[in-house]
Amino acid sequence: MPERPKAPRGTFDILPADAESRARLHELAAGAFGAAGYGRIETPAFEQTDLFARAVGEATDIVTKEMFSFHDQGGRELTLRPEGTAPICRAYVEHGMHKLPQPVKLWYSGAYFRHERPQAGRFRQFHQIGVEAIGTNDPMADAETIILLDQLLRSFEVPGVTLRVGSLGTVSSRAAYREELRDYLRAHQAELSPEVRERIEQNPLRAFDSDHDQTRAVMAQAPQMIDRLDDADAEHLAAVERLLRESGVEFERDGSLVRGLDYYTRTVFEFTSDALGAQSALGGGGRYDGLIDELGGPPTAAVGWAAGVERILLAVAAEPPEPTADVYVAADGDAERERAFALVTELRRAGMVAHLDLARRSIKGQMKQADRAGARHAVLIEADGASVRDMSSGEQTGLDLAHAVEVLSS
Ligand code: HAM
Repeated sequence: MPERPKAPRGTFDILPADAESRARLHELAAGAFGAAGYGRIETPAFEQTDLFARAVGEATDIVTKEMFSFHDQGGRELTLRPEGTAPICRAYVEHGMHKLPQPVKLWYSGAYFRHERPQAGRFRQFHQIGVEAIGTNDPMADAETIILLDQLLRSFEVPGVTLRVGSLGTVSSRAAYREELRDYLRAHQAELSPEVRERIEQNPLRAFDSDHDQTRAVMAQAPQMIDRLDDADAEHLAAVERLLRESGVEFERDGSLVRGLDYYTRTVFEFTSDALGAQSALGGGGRYDGLIDELGGPPTAAVGWAAGVERILLAVAAEPPEPTADVYVAADGDAERERAFALVTELRRAGMVAHLDLARRSIKGQMKQADRAGARHAVLIEADGASVRDMSSGEQTGLDLAHAVEVLSS
């Protein structure tokens, strides 16, 4: 027996039974984002590696250990996109979108790739839905994007959702804070996990994300950026919080909220669900006022988020919906089967969901299939005519095939 190929570790197939709730999520997202003036954008699945190193940050986990990077035949360094914000900012600069009326509001949906240790809710190829509002520093844009994710999670009925909101200040105010935090971490070195200890110089804020008990105890007492915000940053956060409150969005302020990407400034936020396990983040994002500038565009403020499609689906754990169909056309014998085929084609062209047997089952077997398909009507085509059965009442009447579409669509 030849070895059977398997999907690569950390990847999965989306089978028809799972496809329907995904499609519903996308429909809800497209509706909500379109209504708020966001246009769809799609960028390539891979980019030049340098884009992510510059945008996401050289010292982040994503860039140091999680990227699927490769050289193409021309020796170029490429990377399967681990996230969507950097590519969208690249596209904004490349297409001169700063010349359009600002802000430019975009939404996206696609596959992303991170070489993480696979576990429940964590994959190496996963899907994100996200929005970015580029070219505005108005706190209303922060609130608008947060409200969009809140609305999406509500309309999809995701249970046990919590929203945490924080602020990381600006690059300059954060520099002084990082120094203060480094001093604090150095003073507690002995209690920290080796991983956190190693990153005191490069990435001290990640210590807040550690799941090492002693490190967590140290971090519970650590100074927080949210208490070091300058007046303008503090007012920005207060304005976002006010808008959320006025819109009836519940949230907790969280001074220890740090994100795994370096481009954030000011507002950061994360939605979690207690219906998920260790990987409880449904989605998150924040402001990234320096990123477009960093990528060679004009200084441009922006805010956005991305949500994990699989996480949302897992939290809802939706049963696949029962199948439904308008008509199942049953027939036995070559001539009858061809008439059935013609009828099904005609019904489908008229917009009905119509099925027929492609496995040469007996009539009894076909009626069982009609039942399984959730058909409202079954049509039986025989040599001397046709009949239609109402599948719920069992009532059966003769059917003139010339008027089948009319009869069956009524
Ligand atoms: P992120 O927090 O890295 O942010 O990812 C967003 C969401 O993607 C996470 O909350 C999670 O639901 C999902 N996710 C991440 N990694 C995995 C994985 N390995 N398997 C399954 N789901 C995963 C970003 O990517 C930013 N670009 C968000 C953003 C947009 N910030 C501003 N604009």
